[in-house]
Amino acid sequence: MSKIYSKNYWSIGFKSHLYDRLSPESYFESMRQLVAAIPDGKTLRLLDAGCGSGLLLRFLTERIREGMVYTGVDLLKTGVEQALIRAQELGVASQVSFIHSDLTTSAFPTNEKFDVIVGHFSLYTLASDKKRQEALANLKTVMKPDGLLILANPSVDYDADLIIDDSIRLVRDRHGFFASLIKQALIYPFTKAIGLRFIQKQLRAGIWKAYTQKEFSLEIERAGFEVRHIEDVYAGSAFLVVACLSS
Ligand SMILES: C[S@@+](CC[C@H](N)C(=O)[O-])C[C@H]1O[C@@H](n2cnc3c(N)ncnc32)[C@H](O)[C@@H]1O
Repeated sequence: MSKIYSKNYWSIGFKSHLYDRLSPESYFESMRQLVAAIPDGKTLRLLDAGCGSGLLLRFLTERIREGMVYTGVDLLKTGVEQALIRAQELGVASQVSFIHSDLTTSAFPTNEKFDVIVGHFSLYTLASDKKRQEALANLKTVMKPDGLLILANPSVDYDADLIIDDSIRLVRDRHGFFASLIKQALIYPFTKAIGLRFIQKQLRAGIWKAYTQKEFSLEIERAGFEVRHIEDVYAGSAFLVVACLSS
């Protein structure tokens, strides 16, 4: 795989909408699990760190309509552009905003403080421990003292085949046998070939970070957070962590 492809992987996916079309159901399920971990409260201010094309907005629409204020931040201009279009399509543009910025830069361009900071499969793409610590330190400065950090990142057991099997089962349970057959035959072969296998390769090569449960907890604790809850998501291919500021 060429370096140019790997460098532009997310922006190509966002711009072409292949990211949306090929994302497996198990990924959406992981987003649902992340959203379920967000505390109640109508006027929560939420920061989506590494929001990409704002796919999470799909699962936050109801909460935003009820009063949640959403801010997405991403390094990629294509990501925030697509996320804004998505917010307009979902009819929530007036309650969302986007920042085009690098999470690791010290001058994080907002003075706002957030009740909840989420990062769904974003921090793992920062390959070095140092960069991830920088990003976590910046997130810490914009979190309210009683705020929550909710992160999902891949595990060392990341397995493209298990993710696809789980996705087929979820689609069957949710939308019936025929829908799962279409996904299995026409969509998921591409999901696996273009998406999951590439990610698996990057993880195994150490270009992106795959965690053991202990490593994930330690990384978050090192940055000054206290892990409240950790669970397997994404067919055992990732962990979801809920953390607060350590006292
Ligand atoms: C796998 S995508 C996930 C996007 C989204 N959270 C989702 O689950 O659909 C990873 C995202 O993290 C973003 N990202 C990586 N490094 C970043 C950084 N240093 N600052 C801001 N965003 C970053 C990428 O641009 C990309 O949009």
